[in-house]
Amino acid sequence: MSAKIKMSQVQDRLCTKRLGRTILHCHEIDSTNKWAKELAKYGASEGTVMVAETQTRGRGRHGREWISPTGGLWFSLVLRPKLSPDVASKLTFVAGLAVVKVLCEMFDLEAETKWPNDVLVNKRKICGVISEMNTTDETVNFVVVGIGVNTNFNVKEVFPKELRRVATSLQDELGRKIQLEELFSTLLETIESLYEQFIEEGSDSILEEWKSYARFLGHKVEVTTLTEKVSGLALDIDPRGALALELEDGTVKHVLTGDVSLQLTL
Ligand code: BTN
Repeated sequence: MSAKIKMSQVQDRLCTKRLGRTILHCHEIDSTNKWAKELAKYGASEGTVMVAETQTRGRGRHGREWISPTGGLWFSLVLRPKLSPDVASKLTFVAGLAVVKVLCEMFDLEAETKWPNDVLVNKRKICGVISEMNTTDETVNFVVVGIGVNTNFNVKEVFPKELRRVATSLQDELGRKIQLEELFSTLLETIESLYEQFIEEGSDSILEEWKSYARFLGHKVEVTTLTEKVSGLALDIDPRGALALELEDGTVKHVLTGDVSLQLTL
């Protein structure tokens, strides 16, 4: 089967120092995150990237299935930041910010971020990010950041019915297929530059910029945590990366893990 992503074209374009200097590419795999975690345990160096044309068991947050048909961009990065686990857990924002910036700048889309790790276009999910950290006590051994971008396929043709109203793809939004190599190399460059900023300056400026794309802030949302569902006004993202939610009684709750549902009028 011919490759949808031409790696030679990605490597030719790529102007990064570390990220994507080694790219492992395959036609089909269960999950690039699983692959990356296995290789990271055997010493894969910082910046190694795994990419697959299709995943048979793509994984989202909370063990959810991530549908990964051919035509999408499914990849994982191995990072080895010298940071505490608390700080390294905010790398998800680096990846989400990189995706939203690239979608806005490259395709002139009005993409937005949604806490904690989604990128939406026209209120529908176009990208998801998952970070998985391996630590020993307070030392981060590695973080695998997995990124899935719905690109060259039509959501209505390939996604199950229940996802069609809530997901979109670049092809659906632009009415054409895009050059995967250009998107992939631009994303890697943007992630590297934001990652360097994160390492050198800390997470504050990344969070501030991430928030500038977060249109849900200032609106009523419903948040599903591991234990409950709460509604409130999305006020802010605090320095830990938690969502500050103003509840009906006026108290402010800081939610570190959960999923936000926006009030959709589709
Ligand atoms: C989410 O929104 O829940 C996160 C989805 C992350 C999907 C990507 S696709 C590449 C990488 N491999 C996986 O199995 N998952 C991530």
